[in-house]
Amino acid sequence: MPEIKTIGIVTSGNDAPGMNSAIRAVTRAAIYNGLRVKAIYRGYKGLIDGDIVEFKTQNVSNIVQQGGTILKSSASRDFLSAEGRQKAFENIQKEEIDALVVIGGDGTIHGARIFAQEYDTPCIAIPATIDNNLCGTDTTIGYDTALNTIMQCVDKIRDTATSHERLFFVEVMGDDAGFLALNGAIAAGCEEAIVPSVGIDDSQLNTFIQNGFRKTKNSSIVLVAANDKVGGAMHYAEVVKNQYPDLDVRISILGHLQRGGRPSAHDRIIASRMGAASIQALLKGLRNVMVGIDNDAIVYVPFSRAIKENRVLDHRLFDILHDISI
Ligand code: F6P
Repeated sequence: MPEIKTIGIVTSGNDAPGMNSAIRAVTRAAIYNGLRVKAIYRGYKGLIDGDIVEFKTQNVSNIVQQGGTILKSSASRDFLSAEGRQKAFENIQKEEIDALVVIGGDGTIHGARIFAQEYDTPCIAIPATIDNNLCGTDTTIGYDTALNTIMQCVDKIRDTATSHERLFFVEVMGDDAGFLALNGAIAAGCEEAIVPSVGIDDSQLNTFIQNGFRKTKNSSIVLVAANDKVGGAMHYAEVVKNQYPDLDVRISILGHLQRGGRPSAHDRIIASRMGAASIQALLKGLRNVMVGIDNDAIVYVPFSRAIKENRVLDHRLFDILHDISI
């Protein structure tokens, strides 16, 4: 196995709070272990364009607390093509990069997996996405911060919803997985959560309004996971407005504010642990695995497993949500 002397580090796909904490940890752990670090800017696009600079420890000073990613990010179309990946490999050779640490979500890991197979370049992934939708890890970097952001926003919406006795449909991100909607609803004391994998039909909405909202409450908040197919919060608000014209219904779409902000302590800690573990993985000779956390211990998950399918929600959480929101 060729010796690893220089690593490349890249953030790719959608940003997530805590990516900077991970960049810092990877850089510092690599340098501590005698490796050189090359930072690749703007995701896989930067690998293709040769947008690469060497990082020393001071390049990652004062970033542990910053949201976003100092390396910038993008979803590179060119990396999907064989020509794009060929160019990326040429730059890796030119920069004498022996292994890659990629930080991002399922698309990022998918790209790393193909690249590692084609060019026999050792890759380690660090899961960073607010969606929390990767298998083999209890959580992903950014999820906890986004969940807290949602909770704080809904707390504020609750103030006005209560004052005006309104029914709010609040749309949150989270892709098809639904973790942000369901756990956000529990954290913020919402009355219902609607996620793509479970959905809700008109009769269930009806039951919710008759049993809960109409009988015991004057205001209510429903968290809806964004859903391109069904239409998200707008869709459900329309259905209810048509059926109950006398109800005061409002919509709030939280949007990209969920991806911003300073990472929570939890996200900084897991990012730091995973970052250091990515270097340990390379030094131990591991290849093409995602660093994960399972039961508070670091684990290494093969790429194929990490992105096999969307992580499944624990549906018992719906029962808890319903039981305690009566
Ligand atoms: O991956 C995080 C995520 O927030 C998804 O939940 C959402 O669907 C997507 O990013 C939106 O990304 P953008 O609008 O930035 O392309």
